[in-house]
Amino acid sequence: LCGADELAVVSLPSYACQRHTPLLHHNTVLIDALSILAENAELSENEGRGVAFRRAGALLKSLPQEIRRVEQLRGQPCLGDHSLRVIKEVLEDGVCCEVETTKESRQFKAMKALTGIFGVGAKTADRWFREGIHTPSDLQRSGHNLNRAQRAGVQYYDDLNQPVRKAEADAIGLIVEKAVSEVLPGAKITLIGGFRRGKETGHDVDFLITHPEEGREEGLMAKVVSWLEAQGFLLYHKTTRNSYLESKDGPARPPSNMDRFERCFSIFRLTREESSMLSQCSGSRSWMAVRVDMVVSPYSQFAFALLGWTGSKLFERELRRWAVHERAMTLSSHTLYDSTKRQYLRANSEEEIFALLGLEYIPPCGRNA
Ligand code: GTP
Ligand code: MN
Ligand code: MN
Repeated sequence: LCGADELAVVSLPSYACQRHTPLLHHNTVLIDALSILAENAELSENEGRGVAFRRAGALLKSLPQEIRRVEQLRGQPCLGDHSLRVIKEVLEDGVCCEVETTKESRQFKAMKALTGIFGVGAKTADRWFREGIHTPSDLQRSGHNLNRAQRAGVQYYDDLNQPVRKAEADAIGLIVEKAVSEVLPGAKITLIGGFRRGKETGHDVDFLITHPEEGREEGLMAKVVSWLEAQGFLLYHKTTRNSYLESKDGPARPPSNMDRFERCFSIFRLTREESSMLSQCSGSRSWMAVRVDMVVSPYSQFAFALLGWTGSKLFERELRRWAVHERAMTLSSHTLYDSTKRQYLRANSEEEIFALLGLEYIPPCGRNA
């Protein structure tokens, strides 16, 4: 028996950077199930397992049609036994037992609630969980000493756990643009992260700042932050200086995923006047707290920074994996290094970087892996 739908799906390439992954797709229920297991693995610091579930989910996002029977997936890459078992169960029973158990588990719920605090990672959350702390309120009652980021995280917990909408991102974009043009005329800002990929909501807003004259961008972040602070726009900020040095012998090994640009992790105070869309502000509140990331790149590294900060996280990981395993190159948000030729490869656009990697260009809206 060979239904029409069984033949309809051709095998997709295995690296997410070799295919389009749109924002809207046809297998939401299956992907949601796999995402829970990925999240749980990440929260348990089982990175490998998390990536396996993420890759399986991303493959389903790339499929041009809804999957109704697991046989339709025969020949597709990225689907391990575990993921296939989950998919089969959801298709046959509507739900997967392991996913339901995970969702309901005290540990998963507590870890989600605690890592939902800005400044709290899986390690810290796990330590607290074992001390019986399951919620931000438990944490406040415990009298634990929190660092500055975590204190802000607890203080603005509710706001920061509301999705940021595109209108709010645009309102913040105008503020950052004003700040940048005040302190360094000619500098330009670009919306990056999920909003550049076409998402309508996000957990934060990300901006990349540069100046067409190389070197003019040095020290820019400190000035932007002072301006924003003086205007009362910042509830929290932590600025990190640029620490990037190009080595003649190529990038350090193993290349770190973290880049070394001047950057600022911040929390903005967005008022009603700035954003007419603040209907979600509760009661008499006339403002809301919004997480904002800003990165400054030298003009010569702009294309790499843009590619590296547009995401998604899995898409970035796949690009780097492709570069190393298929091209013997090292890709970072600063450069591309060819280990065979022992030289850095320059590029002025994302299109050029894809070409150097031997990949078809995937626009931001197709990078939602
Ligand atoms: P939402 O914010 O939830 O909409 O998703 P997002 O895709 O915008 O995620 P996020 O803001 O966390 O990150 C945006 C992009 O920046 C992703 O591609 C990340 O890989 C990248 N990114 C975030 N932090 C760092 C970092 O410290 N170093 C580097 N190189 N990239 C980072
Ligand atoms: Mn983001
Ligand atoms: Mn971010």
